[in-house]
Amino acid sequence: MKSLHELFVHLLQDIYFAEQQIEKSLPELAQSAKSENLRLALESHLKETKGQIERLDEIFGLMQLSPETEECEAIEGLIDEAQEVINATEEQPVRDAGIIASAQAVEHYEIARYGTLAAWADQLGLSAVSVLLNQTLEEEKKADATLNSLALLQVNQKAA
Ligand SMILES: [Fe+2]
Repeated sequence: MKSLHELFVHLLQDIYFAEQQIEKSLPELAQSAKSENLRLALESHLKETKGQIERLDEIFGLMQLSPETEECEAIEGLIDEAQEVINATEEQPVRDAGIIASAQAVEHYEIARYGTLAAWADQLGLSAVSVLLNQTLEEEKKADATLNSLALLQVNQKAA
């Protein structure tokens, strides 16, 4: 890869793969949650994730590229860890704290990626693409903030 444009497309394919893995993993995370509010938050983020995948389809379309995925080992590792936390915990409030920790790690990864992609889209003069990437970035930040307040106000105390 010689140009920022090529690297941009590579990261786009990487996050496209990541979102699809997240879409697959969220139902189990939600089902494993004891806290009703946590389950609802994860289910609502699943809906958002489906919209984010459609937004990426739209971005590929705007760039006249066919949507392709690039395997993202980082997200596979984060999802594997989430699975390990579920397998290794029995006490439900503790498991909920672990689920939040895992989901926040995924959100932080996405925030890093979408932040970079939006900045690069601006740099490359792809303003319509940048608008779409920023919409997803804001959703990821909100999802992270929701998980944070669930942890602080409800889950951590019960787990402790
Ligand atoms: Fe996402």
